Amino acid sequence: MTAQILDGKKAAEEIRASLKKEISCMPKKPGLAAIIVGDNPASKLYVGIKRKTCDEVGIYSELHELPEATSEEDLLKLIRKLNGDEKINGILIQLPLPKHINEENIFSEIALEKDVDGFHAVNMGRLMRAEERVVPCTPKGVIRLLEKYNIEIKGKNVVIVGRSKIVGRPLALMLLNRDATVTICHTKTQNCSEKTRMADILIGAAGCPKLIRADMVKDGAVVVDIGTTKVENKLVGDVDFDSVKGKASWITPVPGGIGPMTVAMLLENTVQAAKREK
Ligand code: GUN
Repeated sequence: MTAQILDGKKAAEEIRASLKKEISCMPKKPGLAAIIVGDNPASKLYVGIKRKTCDEVGIYSELHELPEATSEEDLLKLIRKLNGDEKINGILIQLPLPKHINEENIFSEIALEKDVDGFHAVNMGRLMRAEERVVPCTPKGVIRLLEKYNIEIKGKNVVIVGRSKIVGRPLALMLLNRDATVTICHTKTQNCSEKTRMADILIGAAGCPKLIRADMVKDGAVVVDIGTTKVENKLVGDVDFDSVKGKASWITPVPGGIGPMTVAMLLENTVQAAKREK
């Protein structure tokens, strides 16, 4: 079997085009404020891409670059200021934050209606209670891409490799909310391959290049790769694409899979926040 491609690049283009049309009819441009603390080059690259796509669809964006040594209190002050700024509908704090800053304190300071990342404790709680409102962009992008290709989730065995707070866990809940049977594998999981081979839908979300090899994949499985690690200046996913594509029925490439979907979902969450403001 040679897998067909789940084309996130194309799906994201379509979403952006539709958002652009919608924004052109809005009385006021939606606005996004992005905050980076420190000099992480990957964060700068990702936020640069997010702002460029904002521009493309007609979302106003501004960037706040703060030094690594910024105190938690100073970051909280900036968030409070942006909470009261009428131009801004969404506040994006690019992760990771420096170790001396408590992420939970920061995300819970963002006004709930401006939480376009879905990381606010209230939005996380809503997701946990199967009352999804604003959900994190990467998990939302995965679900949207599966839906676009009519890949059934209900009743399927889904295995997620990775349990991060911003990807693996919320994605597990979103899939459970759609009636999948979900298993999460992580660094302490025993016999991980035994579990991944049971998956109808297998998702790599560990950030570990080429962790998932063909022998870990069931014939005909749908394989979604969320990993993006820079290796020798190239983006490498969690899935060994070349071997796995011979076994899977559908597969996402890296790049061009979940990455562009994540950005498109951030834009969508920002537009929805602006619409709710009315
Ligand atoms: N760092 C890596 N992924 C994300 C994301 O989806 N949102 C934010 N804010 N930071 C990230």
